[in-house]
Amino acid sequence: MNDVASVQGLPPGNLVIRRIGQLITNDPDHGGPLGVIWGGAVVILDGVIDWVGLDRELPADVGDLPELDAAGGCVLPGFVDAHTHAVFAGDRIEEFGRRIAGATYEEIHAAGGGIASTVAATRQAARDTLMDETRERLHVMLHHGTTTAEVKSGYGLDTATEVKMLEVIGRLDAELMMDLVPTFLGAHTVPHEFATDRTGYVRYVIDEMLPACAPLARFCDVFCDQAAFAVDEAREILLAAREAGLGLRIHADQLGPIGAAALAAELGVMSADHLDHADDAALRALAAAGSVGVLLPGVSFSLRLPYPDASRFADAGLPVALATDANPGSSYVLTMPFVIALAVYEMGMSPGDAVLAATLGGARALGMADRGYVKQGAVGDLVALAAERHVALAYQPDTPHVAHVVKAGRPHMTA
Ligand code: NIG
Ligand code: FE
Repeated sequence: MNDVASVQGLPPGNLVIRRIGQLITNDPDHGGPLGVIWGGAVVILDGVIDWVGLDRELPADVGDLPELDAAGGCVLPGFVDAHTHAVFAGDRIEEFGRRIAGATYEEIHAAGGGIASTVAATRQAARDTLMDETRERLHVMLHHGTTTAEVKSGYGLDTATEVKMLEVIGRLDAELMMDLVPTFLGAHTVPHEFATDRTGYVRYVIDEMLPACAPLARFCDVFCDQAAFAVDEAREILLAAREAGLGLRIHADQLGPIGAAALAAELGVMSADHLDHADDAALRALAAAGSVGVLLPGVSFSLRLPYPDASRFADAGLPVALATDANPGSSYVLTMPFVIALAVYEMGMSPGDAVLAATLGGARALGMADRGYVKQGAVGDLVALAAERHVALAYQPDTPHVAHVVKAGRPHMTA
């Protein structure tokens, strides 16, 4: 068995996983949305799932493959965290002190703190420092079962630093046992040097940053909210990003109802994220547009705000993903099991729906059709729990249940 460091750079692996308790395939062919198989086994060849079935029916010719003994534990697809701001320098511990003493996130933001203070630290940080700090956080995520994560820029807000952030994402993607999906978030907030010229900043994002960043990113995101960019500004930036070949996602109506979710539906974005203040009509429009809603209960937890009610999204027919929003200000939450527990306790999601949203939901939110389920042809990204059933993730919320993480057929222990 490997630790994270010793498997970096290894080619995709061959592996047979045996003695699985509850195998969650997310493949309705096995019944129900979770497609549970009790007593299952999985074969991975060259990093891709080749066979899924009952352990007692395992093909005889897999005897020579390396074996992982799940010891009766639950096995599920690797978590897909579809919304993170994991690249940043420094921290906001002082601001946290003010927040727990009563200051709100928006008050701190309006007073020039918040995102702006992380922008100052990230502009100043050497690329290697930024990489080292980010790598530590990604290791925590990986040890808790995240095998794919979207990571945004957005703490540069100038071309050089946005490019530096996206390059860090690219290098860590190549280095770690995690697939990282880079998103350009030049429109995160208006930096101080453009404080009196918002229009000038929107032009700078479109005319200068976007052409430099688009080759390094797969998506473009805009923070479209009452304390951030207006609907018309977001539309202009996202349309330019689409022209530049990027997929679209959007921070929509997190802090107030400004019509960002309706814009998201109009543009047919791949995902609309947060949605705390989006109304039911906008949720139905998003569903009709084929978008995914990305829900981030770590923010409600960290800012002590009301949680969105999961039933509203289900009633609107909008598929959802759960994600961490990992960032130094509004949600310094790194692990998907914690997010699953929050969704179950605070948003009224069933444990099964929460697991589905943290795996297949995340993959859909990123437009990745090759993961989030356990079936022949899917990537060999799996998590093995020490517990027999997925319900343990919510029932025993602070137990570190993840015993093994398998990335493209390569296993490592997390203990
Ligand atoms: O998703 N909403 C905007 N961006 C982040 C917060 C980033 C920060 O506070 O540094 C979010 O909550
Ligand atoms: Fe965010």
